[in-house]
Amino acid sequence: MKLVIHLLGAVVLVCFAVQTCARAIGGTPKLWIKDSTQKPLQDIVTWDENSLFVRGERIFFFSGEFHPFRLPVPSLYLDVFQKIKALGFNGVSFYIHWALLEGKPGEFSAEGVFSLEPFFEAATKAGIYLLARPGPYINAEVSGGGFPGWLQRVNGTLRTRDPEYLHATDLYAKSVGEIIAKAQITNGGPIILVQPENEYTGATSDIHPFPDPVYMQYVEDQLKDAGIIVPLISNDASASGDNAPGQPAAVDIYGHDGYPLGFDCANPYTWPDGDLPTTWRSLHLQQSPNTPYSIVEFQGGSFDPWGGLGFEQCSVLLNNEFERVFYKNDYSFGVAIFNIYMIFGGTNWGNLGHPGGYTSYDYGSSITEERLVTREKYSELKLEANFFKVSPAYLVAERGYASNSTWTSSTALTVTPAFANSTAFYFVRHAAYNSLESTSYKLNVQTSRGNFSVPQLGGSLTLNGRDSKIHVSDYDVGGLNILYSTAEVFTWKKYDSKTILIVYGGPSETHEIAFQGSTATLVEGSGPKISKKKDYTIVNWEVSSDRKIVKVNSDVFIYLLDRNSAYDYWVVDQALHNASNSVIVNAGYLVRSATVKGNTLALVGDFNATTTIEVIGGAPKSLAKLTINGHSTPFRKDKLGVYTAIVTIEKPNINIPDLSKLKWKYLDSLPELQSTYSDASWTSADLKTTYNTHRPLTTPTSLYSSDYGYHTGTLLYRGHFTATGAEDTLFLWTQGGSASGTSAFLNSTFLGSWAGTDVATNANSTFTLPNLVAGKPYVLTVVIDNMGLDEDWTVGTELMKNPRGILNYAVSGREQSAIAWKLTGNLGGEDYADRSRGPLNEGGTFAERQGFHLPGAPFEAWEDSAGPTAGIAAAGIGFFATAFELDLPAGYDIPLSFAFTNSSDDASGRATAYRAQLFVNGWQYGKYVHNVGPQTRFPVPEGILDYKGTNYVAVSLWALEEGGAKVEGLELVVDAVVETGYGGVETVKGDTWTKRKGAY
Ligand SMILES: *[C@@H]1O[C@H](CO)[C@@H](O)[C@H](O)[C@H]1NC(C)=O
Repeated sequence: MKLVIHLLGAVVLVCFAVQTCARAIGGTPKLWIKDSTQKPLQDIVTWDENSLFVRGERIFFFSGEFHPFRLPVPSLYLDVFQKIKALGFNGVSFYIHWALLEGKPGEFSAEGVFSLEPFFEAATKAGIYLLARPGPYINAEVSGGGFPGWLQRVNGTLRTRDPEYLHATDLYAKSVGEIIAKAQITNGGPIILVQPENEYTGATSDIHPFPDPVYMQYVEDQLKDAGIIVPLISNDASASGDNAPGQPAAVDIYGHDGYPLGFDCANPYTWPDGDLPTTWRSLHLQQSPNTPYSIVEFQGGSFDPWGGLGFEQCSVLLNNEFERVFYKNDYSFGVAIFNIYMIFGGTNWGNLGHPGGYTSYDYGSSITEERLVTREKYSELKLEANFFKVSPAYLVAERGYASNSTWTSSTALTVTPAFANSTAFYFVRHAAYNSLESTSYKLNVQTSRGNFSVPQLGGSLTLNGRDSKIHVSDYDVGGLNILYSTAEVFTWKKYDSKTILIVYGGPSETHEIAFQGSTATLVEGSGPKISKKKDYTIVNWEVSSDRKIVKVNSDVFIYLLDRNSAYDYWVVDQALHNASNSVIVNAGYLVRSATVKGNTLALVGDFNATTTIEVIGGAPKSLAKLTINGHSTPFRKDKLGVYTAIVTIEKPNINIPDLSKLKWKYLDSLPELQSTYSDASWTSADLKTTYNTHRPLTTPTSLYSSDYGYHTGTLLYRGHFTATGAEDTLFLWTQGGSASGTSAFLNSTFLGSWAGTDVATNANSTFTLPNLVAGKPYVLTVVIDNMGLDEDWTVGTELMKNPRGILNYAVSGREQSAIAWKLTGNLGGEDYADRSRGPLNEGGTFAERQGFHLPGAPFEAWEDSAGPTAGIAAAGIGFFATAFELDLPAGYDIPLSFAFTNSSDDASGRATAYRAQLFVNGWQYGKYVHNVGPQTRFPVPEGILDYKGTNYVAVSLWALEEGGAKVEGLELVVDAVVETGYGGVETVKGDTWTKRKGAY
């Protein structure tokens, strides 16, 4: 017997047998939730030091992050939830983006696509528990980190106890808190956890005290006052222990986040030394020993900035190998509340993102922006999450020490064991976590039949490069004791008539499984060695794509798979939160649901190819009818009692318009350059002081757009002056955030542009003025791209208050005060015109102010054009519009994208400077910066596109160069054709165009 040392709280015990240190599984959940009178607020969601309980049942909250506001098609929420549930997850965490709900201080609105109830209903329908994260500060790579632009006017430090800031949050916190409270599990809803604040972890040195318990308590009390009684959980940006139980302003459950591999998508194969966390378990025991170990965000992908490499590269950096090594490391710490950020990223449509990112928020996550489940990391995650669904011992196991010698024959490996009663888990990784070596080893297992060095029947185990394994011993499979398995368990299930166990390994690996069955016979495949010992049996095999099935006793079937084959298997629960009658299916692309009624089995799923389906377990004893997506399907029963059927896919006819062949219309969207244009209705920039306490004015009046209520999209300034003839140059310091651009004109004359670069958040430009005539009036027109407002991650930096617009200016030979400025952004500013698409969707260009991006715009009257590929011949802004019908076949998921051709670099490789916005039925679904990149393809979901009707598409084209610009090519492309049982997607009905009163 080896010595095993465990950490139990702060007490170090030396155990002489595995069992000595273990404790019983189950037990009575403790009611930790107390109000000030020490009465439990509710008893549905409880916890102990190991895990959550829901209605007394211990659960691993296995969750993925999914933001409803990044998919403004409520009828697609269920699609994403089902794809998350199909992973074996039971949870979803979501942020709420305040800036979309309170565009004007004092006016909270969560209607239409911003309504949260459809999200809650879809979660309930899918059997998903929710963690609600309303902020008010969320970060989340959204504009202002969630803060509405008007917070730039708050006289108080953001995220502190300053009364003006706290007061600014009150309406939102109360309103959204009440919406969340109604959807708590205690009211029959899906919400079981709520997180106040977010990553309240770092501050500048002038913030005292920090973390401030007065502030944090205020945020918590706002939620409690709104009726929230489920546990509050924190999300520390690093494992600092702030606000943990026992600390001031404690939450109920302490959690932290972690992005250990960082965001360097430029080097997707580089895993820097030392990036694997190793201290998190011991920190947890110091910081919050009485709460479940909770990683409230763990890296599921990466954000990508303007000029980045694109999300496909991020999905390589954070791929299936990353999941195997890093997630299994987290399991070795006993994580029991585990949220993958993001599981589905979605889209920064309508200017909702921050300047550090572009339109796509794909994030390289398991489910793509197009809602496809084709990335291998999706399948890997499914293997992992399903294992924990059937391994309850994991949640109550005592965690052992990581060791390089105790458990294996190779010191190149680190093994962290965990023990529950007799069951043991061995988490194996390379000691140098980023090693690319293939390391052979034997595993030392401790079992109820003695200790073994395995494999016993020859060969050795192998850890191939960036891999990690979870081996088990004395692992219960419905009454059959698996003495040990080096192959990893995907799932098992005991049915009335048989028990199924599915294990898998990597290609060509040797594995061994030993169990206490009396007989074992190979009933499919070839190769395994089977050896009967005194009171157990060993099976040893080399993994290949040739499936092997071993029958144990009369009714246990062990499937020995290679990992790639295992990816095609699905475990589908029939009940929402109960795996007691789950159905195991080998079915390829996606299985959404399985329902047994009498002798009928109904499967609903998606198929991207002709697929042979096997119902491995859970079918009615004598299956009479099998329906697949509602169609009765012939099936047969094989000798093992498995039902098989074939789903034949015929790719439908898909007619997608060739955009270049459509009739387009054109409108000049910078009429401000015409001498007849009147800016009489524009806002005068006449504030002599700014409300912004972060940056003092360096101009006679404020030119900060948020001082005047303009927080989103393109900004325009008009500077009027009467010339003296002494003017030679115009100097502008403009700030729009990363990758912003600026163009300046004098009357109708183009002065020049700052085209923008990926990293520049602001720019100094000096433009030469033509000869001005003394005594004549002139007007400067300045266009600035507001890329969104900065986040406010570190308290005290006040970065969210970085103003947008003109920071400073000079006309040579003149006083600054000689220029009288006006400005505009979106029509109405905080009294924004389009309530259905929210406060951020439209910017300040002429076409947007008029609402010409909306369906129903009077575009037929505009001039004929060949479209954005015809371009415009001079610097300025053109607006192109067209309409087309779609009639796509029902029963298919056919994600579409708009793809810009990116080949208009000139001979020297220099890209023409232009910016385009794509509007689809009024929704801004793309912001393309040709000279910065990287995004050229813009997915637009069904529901924004009407697949059975007319679609209105508009493209704004801002040419920043003298010679104008044209879009080299613009195509509508089919990203995939997947037959689906999902059912219909409702087209979102946003406001249509009507003539806007007072539009200028
Ligand atoms: C902000 O508040 C401080 C302290 O009350 C006050 O001195 C200052 O004038 C205020 N600033 C603005 C812009 O209102």
